[in-house]
Amino acid sequence: MGEPFYITTAISYPNGRPHIGHAYEAIAADAIARFQRQAGRDVRFQTGTDEHGLKMVQAARASDRAVSDLADEMSGLFRSMCDDLNISYDRFIRTTEPAHHAASQALWDAMKAKGDLYQDRYEGWYSVRDEAYYDEKELVVGAGGTRLSPQGTPVEWTVEESWFFRLSNYQQPLLDLYAADPDFVRPDSRRNEVTRFVEGGLSDLSVSRTSFDWGVKVPGSPDHVMYVWVDALTNYISGLGYPEREGDWRYWPADLHLIGKDIVRFHAVYWPAFLLSAGLPLPRSVFGHGFVLHRGEKMSKSVGNVVDPGDLTQAFGVDSLRYFLLRDVSFGQDGSYSAEAIVARVNAELANSFGNLAQRTLSFIAKNLEGELPHTGRADPADGALIEEVVVACAGLQAAFGDLMLSQGIEAWMRGVFACNGYIDAQAPWALRKIDPDRMHAVLRTLVRAIRMLGIAILPVVPEGAGRVLDQIGATARTHADIEDDAWYDRHAESGFRIAPPAPVFPRLDLPVQAT
Ligand code: MSP
Repeated sequence: MGEPFYITTAISYPNGRPHIGHAYEAIAADAIARFQRQAGRDVRFQTGTDEHGLKMVQAARASDRAVSDLADEMSGLFRSMCDDLNISYDRFIRTTEPAHHAASQALWDAMKAKGDLYQDRYEGWYSVRDEAYYDEKELVVGAGGTRLSPQGTPVEWTVEESWFFRLSNYQQPLLDLYAADPDFVRPDSRRNEVTRFVEGGLSDLSVSRTSFDWGVKVPGSPDHVMYVWVDALTNYISGLGYPEREGDWRYWPADLHLIGKDIVRFHAVYWPAFLLSAGLPLPRSVFGHGFVLHRGEKMSKSVGNVVDPGDLTQAFGVDSLRYFLLRDVSFGQDGSYSAEAIVARVNAELANSFGNLAQRTLSFIAKNLEGELPHTGRADPADGALIEEVVVACAGLQAAFGDLMLSQGIEAWMRGVFACNGYIDAQAPWALRKIDPDRMHAVLRTLVRAIRMLGIAILPVVPEGAGRVLDQIGATARTHADIEDDAWYDRHAESGFRIAPPAPVFPRLDLPVQAT
């Protein structure tokens, strides 16, 4: 087993059904997790649902059902969404699990032992939608003079007896952390935002509520439940068995908390402060990705443009959606999707380029060589040049993915695919069949080698389709080290493997009649 690599997504509020934004985050995290597994890391990938808080209580009340009932049903939908999207999580955590409650209480006790928790009266602005407190100075004025949070959500004046966390003690340690390790918050724009926020001064944080009881009980204060973000953030360690520090604890600290840009403050300010207080190591990096918009517009129930990821995968397939989102959205920035954009991108790159390359080559071998992989043939400098371009393309994907530049990584990979298609056109193996079969063998052999390398490299993005292409050529070893295994082809060809007439793996998409 290699070095541990622990990656997490945010845990979603199961107050409604999953939408494309949730799918996007899960897909991106999955691609990174798969990539790191291929690199030989001992990956732990956690996702799940964040089931406490006032938002859940209100959603349940609005639909006239018990909160636990709503949480059970919706959490199940989030889990199915992950399964449907081929998300290779190792742990799906629910914050209603008893072990999570115990872990949150243990973290609370540790912060209390440090002297960072005290009781007082809370008076201030709270947004239920964001489950966040805001300072007066952060509020903006909405229509009709109403106060809104900086995210544009309604806020209400809240007065309550509360426990407080001495966040103010952590201003300097946090600023020191951002300065010492610029990768702690990524991309840079988000780090700058967070740094400005912390430089502006930190008020102590209200960390318990008494007005409802749906949450983790505060140890020793049975009338209080923890502020939902305290318990939510704890999921990252409770899922590893905290407070026990053995077994899965080896994955801590996390290498990457992947989250959306709207919740960077919680992960880059509150979470490290809690951990510092409890004397626990800090995560290595928090990456705030952008938002996925529908035709450039924010999704909202009132506009009616909230799309169920299941409808998109039904219409286009799982790999298509994964490929589109990772390729089209520059990772870290906002991106937009529409049915037309998905169809255009997938057809141009997956179907017409990579899919067609594999299909043309493999069906030709199946048909004309009875599926037998060509052994030798007359080499030409063009063969080595193509393999070199493909090696560079795969290395480009790997370097970019290592830096979380997912779209650029896929772009680098596409250059390898284009090079193969250029090579086919120039070498025209179909024309060589009658006049120069020896040369044709070398061309097909070069193409199978290239398809294998490209197929392995793109597995994290389109695991199902790329996996099928690799199955078709019998390539079972699929790590980064295997891409570089030059001897694979000869060993494999000698093994007597036969290519069966392949079914197309990346078919062209049609625009549904009713475009989403
Ligand atoms: N429960 C909190 C997170 C707690 S983590 C300890 C929460 N839940 S959420 O359901 O509102 O959001 C879950 C994740 O989805 C967040 O990272 C959020 O940024 C992300 N997204 C929500 N809408 C999104 C888009 N439209 N596009 C991309 N990601 C978005 O916040």
